[in-house]
Amino acid sequence: MSKLWERMLLVPTVVRLTSRAPKDPSVAWDGYWRGILTTGRSGDVLWDSGSQTEHEQYTDVLMGHFNPALPVIDVGCGNGTNTRWLAGLFPSVVGIDVSVGAIELARREAAGLHNVDFMVMDATEAGVGERLLELVGPANVFVRGVFHVLKPDKQSRLAANLRTVVGDSGRVFLAETNFPGSSLAYLQQLGATRRSMPPQLQRALENLPRPGHFGVQERQNTFPDADWQLIADGPAHIEVTPMNASGHSQQVPGYFALLAGA
Ligand SMILES: C[S@@+](CC[C@H](N)C(=O)[O-])C[C@H]1O[C@@H](n2cnc3c(N)ncnc32)[C@H](O)[C@@H]1O
Repeated sequence: MSKLWERMLLVPTVVRLTSRAPKDPSVAWDGYWRGILTTGRSGDVLWDSGSQTEHEQYTDVLMGHFNPALPVIDVGCGNGTNTRWLAGLFPSVVGIDVSVGAIELARREAAGLHNVDFMVMDATEAGVGERLLELVGPANVFVRGVFHVLKPDKQSRLAANLRTVVGDSGRVFLAETNFPGSSLAYLQQLGATRRSMPPQLQRALENLPRPGHFGVQERQNTFPDADWQLIADGPAHIEVTPMNASGHSQQVPGYFALLAGA
C-alpha cells in the first residue's frame, strides 16, 4: 500500500481523537498536564526527550550570547526539563507556564535545585512583559516548542511581552518544530499507522490544540524588524521521546533563532 494511501487511512482515527480536545487552549494544556504520570525519555510526554544531543546544538549559541549576569526565563517550560538543564549553565533560571499542572510537576522535578523558580503565567497575556520585568528584572529568554502551538495573534502578543522582558541587554533564543509536510505526514513520521498510535502521540491528539510549524516566515511575521534584530538562525533538530519499535531517538526538523531588541 502506498505511503499516501496509508496516510489517508489515518484520517478517521485523527478526527475521532482530536474531536475530544477542549477548545480553550489554556484549559487544554492544563488538562493534558494533569493527566501526565511519567516524564522523561520513557515517559508520557511526546517532546520531553531531555536529549543531550539536542541541547548540545544550543549550548554554544546560549553561552556565547546570553549575558550571564541576567536571569534566564524558560517560557512555556512544561515539566521543566530544559529549565533544569539551563540551571546548570546559568546562575538563575525561572520557568513559566500557563498550566498549573505543568508547574506543579516542574516544581517536584526540580526539588533541591536552588537557582530555579517556577511561576504560573499566560505568557501571551497583555501586561505579562511588565510583570516579569518587575519580578525578575531584564532577562534572557529560552523558548522551546511554544510558538508553534500558538495562533499568529498570540505569537505576536508573546513576542511583544518578550520585547519588554529582554530590554537592552537580554536575548531571546527559540527552538521550534518546523516539519515541512502536512500534519498527517508528521503523525506518520512519528510512528502513527492506521492500526496503532504511539500513546504519547495519542495523548497529545486527544488533549491539545493542533500545532503548526514555525520557521523563517513565521519568525519574520512575529518578530518585526522595527522591534527586533536577528543575530542568528538556522535549522535545528528537535528530539522527541522514542516511539518506534526500535526505541531509537526520533528527530523532527526544527528551526532556531537568536534575537535581540532593535
Ligand atoms: C510543546 S510544550 C513544550 C514544553 C517545554 N518548553 C519543553 O520543550 O519541554 C508547550 C508548552 O507551552 C505551554 N504553553 C502553551 N501556551 C502557553 C501560554 N500562553 N503561556 C505560557 N505557556 C504556554 C504548555 O503548557 C506547554 O507546557
